[in-house]
Amino acid sequence: MERFEIKEVKAREILDCRGEPTVEVEVWTKGDFLGRADVPSGRSTGKHEALELRDGEDRYRGKGVLKAVQNVNKIIAPALTGRDATKQREIDELMIELDGTENKSKLGANSIVGVSLAVAKAAAKASSIPLYQSIGGPHVHILPVPFLNLINGGKLAATELDFQEHIVMPVGAKTFSEALRIGTEVYYELGKMLADRWGRHSLNVADEGGYTPSGMKDPREAFDAELKAIEELGYEDEFVLGLDVAASHLYNQEKKRYVLMGKEITREHFMDFYEDLVSTYPVQSIEDPLEEEDFKGFAELTRTLGIQIVGDDLFVTNVKRLNEGIKIGAANALLLKVNQIGTLSEALDAAQLAFRNNYGVQVSERSGQTEDTWLADVTVGLNAGQIKTGAPCRSERTAQYNQLLRIEEELGSTAKYAGKNFRKPK
Ligand code: PGA
Ligand code: ZN
Repeated sequence: MERFEIKEVKAREILDCRGEPTVEVEVWTKGDFLGRADVPSGRSTGKHEALELRDGEDRYRGKGVLKAVQNVNKIIAPALTGRDATKQREIDELMIELDGTENKSKLGANSIVGVSLAVAKAAAKASSIPLYQSIGGPHVHILPVPFLNLINGGKLAATELDFQEHIVMPVGAKTFSEALRIGTEVYYELGKMLADRWGRHSLNVADEGGYTPSGMKDPREAFDAELKAIEELGYEDEFVLGLDVAASHLYNQEKKRYVLMGKEITREHFMDFYEDLVSTYPVQSIEDPLEEEDFKGFAELTRTLGIQIVGDDLFVTNVKRLNEGIKIGAANALLLKVNQIGTLSEALDAAQLAFRNNYGVQVSERSGQTEDTWLADVTVGLNAGQIKTGAPCRSERTAQYNQLLRIEEELGSTAKYAGKNFRKPK
C-alpha cells in the first residue's frame, strides 16, 4: 500500500497550446511515484459542459486559473492525502462530493479533472504498467483510426468556412503507423494544392493544425480539395471523409434557423443538405450535425443517413444526456472528452454506457491542448477504435500520434488497427 499511498497533491498554472492558462496537477505517492496531468480546454464548447473555473480579473485577460489551482492545493489535496491512488472511483466520488454541485462549479471541473487524471497516472506508475493498460486491463489491443482534421472553419479558424472540421479518415490502412503516414502524406499534398488554388495564406494553420484556405466558403470545396489530394496519391481506396459541423454555433435560437454560407435555412433544409452530401461524397461520420438540444433531429439523421453520427455538444460526455439520446436513437457514437464531465470515472461510465448500447466511442482532444499524452492512452485503454486529435502537425497534436506509435510498438503483434470497424472495433 505504501507504494500507492498518496503523499502529496500539487497544482500549478501552466499554458496550453493557445497560450492560455490551464491547470497542471502532480500526484506523488509514498513510493515516490509521480503522476502529472495537464487539463485541456475547449473553445467551441457545449452549453451543458461542466464548468471551467477562470479567475476573471486582469491577469491573462481574465483567463487565469489560480482559483482552480488553489482549490486543488487547499481543498482537494488535504482530502486525498493518505488515500490509495489505485482507488480511482473512490477518489473521483470524493471530489464530486467535495464539490457538491451538478456541474462542478464550486471547485471547477478543471481542478477536479486534473487531479483525477494525475491520480490515474500515479496509480499506473506505481503499478509499473502503462497508463493505457492500467485503464483498460489485459485485453487492450485496438489502435484507433485517426480522424485527421485537415481543413478548419467555424470557431476554431479564421476562415469563411461554417463547418468546424473537414476530416479525412485513413480506414483502409493495415496499421496505425501506416494510417498516420498516408494521412500525413495527404496533408502535405493538400497543402500544395490549396496554396496553388486558394493562395499561400491557406497554409496558415488553425487551432487544431488544419489549413485555412482563404476565400473557401463551401464545405463541398473542402471535400473536393481533400479528395483531390487523396486521388493524386492513389489512396482513394484507403480514405473516407468526416465532419465536425459544431452546428450549435450556426444556430439562431430566436429565429430557429441555421446560417449556412450566409443564408438562413431551416432544420429540414439542413437535413436535406446532409442527405445530398452523403450521397455525393464518401462521408462516413458527421459530428454535431444539428444544434445541441435537437435530440429528435439527431435521431432522424441517424436513421436516414446510415453513417456514424457523433454527439459532442449533444452529449457532453454526460451519462444523463447520453441516456436521453439512447432512448430515441439520437446519434450512434459518443464523443468522449474527459474535461466535459470532470472525472475519469464519469467519462469511463459514459464510454461503457455507449458500448453497451451499440454506440461507438470517439475519444477527443480539445482545441486547447498541451503536450501531455493521456488522451492517446485513454483511447487505447478503451479499445475505442477512433481518436480525434487534429492535423498531423503542431506538437500538442503530434504528441498524441507519437504516443500511439509507441503504444503500437509496445503491443507488438497483438496490436490491431480498427480500420473500417472504427465504430465497433473487433
Ligand atoms: P473544442 O472543439 O475543443 O474547442 O470544444 C472541438 C470540438 O468541437 O470537437
Ligand atoms: Zn465537436
